[in-house]
Amino acid sequence: MRERMTGTTIIQSISAAAVLLAMNIAVANAADVEHGKELFKACAACHSDQPGALGPSLKGVVGRKAAALDSFRYSGPMQRANLMWTPENLHDYIADPQGKVKGNRMPYGGLTNPNDVDDVVAYLATLK
Ligand code: HEC
Repeated sequence: MRERMTGTTIIQSISAAAVLLAMNIAVANAADVEHGKELFKACAACHSDQPGALGPSLKGVVGRKAAALDSFRYSGPMQRANLMWTPENLHDYIADPQGKVKGNRMPYGGLTNPNDVDDVVAYLATLK
């Protein structure tokens, strides 16, 4: 037969659950490079570093100016965007490519979950 919980054990269980929950939230807030790498597979379909890839190479993109690669033919809107790819600008662009650089040619609708976007940006920072 199950033992009934006393008042103290109930409070102990609740505080243990609260600690676990707080830990989960802390983990979810820190950008997760491994998760970003997983998510980047959807980007790598175009950003593959192969000759003839649909998108420009993203190696070293963090801290690079938009439309900076001679090897890629960027759209006019991307060339005129006059953006530095800081983590913030990347965040906005990945969340809403057309909102950030109107008329750019990247056929991608955007990542809706802001934590996912942070993870992808953290992964991009590891591409050297
Ligand atoms: C279907 C193909 C495709 C997918 C998928 C795609 N991109 Fe792109 N991306 C492009 C193209 C094409 C451009 C160039 C846009 C232009 O010149 O207007 C681009 C441009 C970019 C740029 C600007 C690069 C520079 O040198 O200025 C970044 C950053 C970028 N993409 C990140 C991403 C990320 C991160 C993902 C995944 C979340 C992604 N892209 C998914 C095709 C794609």
